[in-house]
Amino acid sequence: MRFLKYSLVLLIVLALFVPAVAAQEVTAEGLTIGFAQVGSESAWRTAFSEAIKAEAEARGITLLFSDGQQRQENQIAALRSFIAQGVDAIILAPVVETGWDEVLQEAADNEIPVLVVDRNVTADESLYITRVSSDFVHEGRLAAAWLVQATAGKCKIVELQGTVGSSAALDRQTGFNEVIALFPDMEIILSQSGDFTRTLGKEVMESFLKAVDPAEICAVWAHNDDMLIGATQAIKEAGLDPAEDILTISVDAIPDIFLAMAEGDANATVELSPNMGGPAFDAIVRYLNGEELPRWIPVAGGIYFPDTAAEEYQKRTQGS
Ligand code: AHR
Repeated sequence: MRFLKYSLVLLIVLALFVPAVAAQEVTAEGLTIGFAQVGSESAWRTAFSEAIKAEAEARGITLLFSDGQQRQENQIAALRSFIAQGVDAIILAPVVETGWDEVLQEAADNEIPVLVVDRNVTADESLYITRVSSDFVHEGRLAAAWLVQATAGKCKIVELQGTVGSSAALDRQTGFNEVIALFPDMEIILSQSGDFTRTLGKEVMESFLKAVDPAEICAVWAHNDDMLIGATQAIKEAGLDPAEDILTISVDAIPDIFLAMAEGDANATVELSPNMGGPAFDAIVRYLNGEELPRWIPVAGGIYFPDTAAEEYQKRTQGS
């Protein structure tokens, strides 16, 4: 009888407390998250770093920030250091697509969830919880679609590719080429990597302008705005007018490209939002609370032209 009584009391106590314990939700506040960033190769990248740091601070997250300086080995070392420190989660913005399996497996072995942000990885999907990013293929398609209509489907293009082996470069190229392949008079005549930097964008464009008769070049397609801005400097130094003699199309929508468009030096940019920290942190918290995540969390962007450039520049630099 006494045993029964104690069992009953125990059951009541469990019934009262177990749901309370089970319902305890993980919140962002107090989490420690390691972030392995690519580097600071472009203005977009810098804006992304600033945005994610501000977002972490606003949510009470301790963000361990590592700048990989565009080198995969630095990023792998950063991931290993985050694992050793026992962080609650890791965000990886990978410089290139391949070569991540081993270190992602190490994170999994230590039960540390990894979220991929921006560029993609080729690793097994079970090794990361989700990816927060834009659709790079779509960005390339959008860029090509604009150029097709601007040139009535007839254009000799020079291409400034992003970092070799990065999904941002590979996928933008795929999307762009898919669209121009539908038009027999659209052709890429020269293509080289400018590593997403302004300096190399200028250097590569200088070499393009020497490699062919500049009058032959109808447009420059740059995988990011920084390379495009470098290229416009080279075009001007060659005595030509960017956006007039040579049309321009690029990706990112950084403030400087709006300035260039407002000054008549660029024609169009496809937007890549730097605000990926919020959705990434939301996804991590959802995961830690046992929710199932979609494999991909998309971040949208539009395409911008000179007509709104001055206003956009103002908005993005002065917040009005
Ligand atoms: O991965 C996104 C690309 O990386 C951006 O378009 C470019 O500016 C950056 O370096």
